[in-house]
Amino acid sequence: MGSVPDSKQIDWQPLIDAAIEAMGKSYSPYSKYPVGAAALTTNGAVVSGCNIENASLGITLCAECSLVSDLVMNDGGKLVAFACVDRDSNALMPCGRCRQLLYEHAAPGMLLRSTSGIRTIEEMLPDAFGPERLS
Ligand code: THU
Repeated sequence: MGSVPDSKQIDWQPLIDAAIEAMGKSYSPYSKYPVGAAALTTNGAVVSGCNIENASLGITLCAECSLVSDLVMNDGGKLVAFACVDRDSNALMPCGRCRQLLYEHAAPGMLLRSTSGIRTIEEMLPDAFGPERLS
């Protein structure tokens, strides 16, 4: 799998299940707001992450940070489809910083399960500042 398929061709449930499983590993003693994220990659694998908080609250890692770490360390591909869940397993919107983080590692047109349906990463971060701006 090299590019992003039509959203209807994505099997979202295994991604949501992987996000829920990742959420179970969350370290969030301060907010008590566990988050899990999972994504399908261009290699056909699923990468995942959870939020990892810190007593120095500002350096908390969002679930998306943990997921990107998994991607770079273990997969090396690009993100094709992404899902994030809150503690009730509902869709959670990536924060602004994490949209930027995802954009860097997304295949063009990456699909994102948002609270208002399936969107592309470009819709979530219009006119983005990305790696292409530096070339
Ligand atoms: N959080 C994420 O993991 N991802 C987001 O996109 C938004 C927020 C986490 C950070 C913190 O541990 C908790 O949610 C409450 O803000």
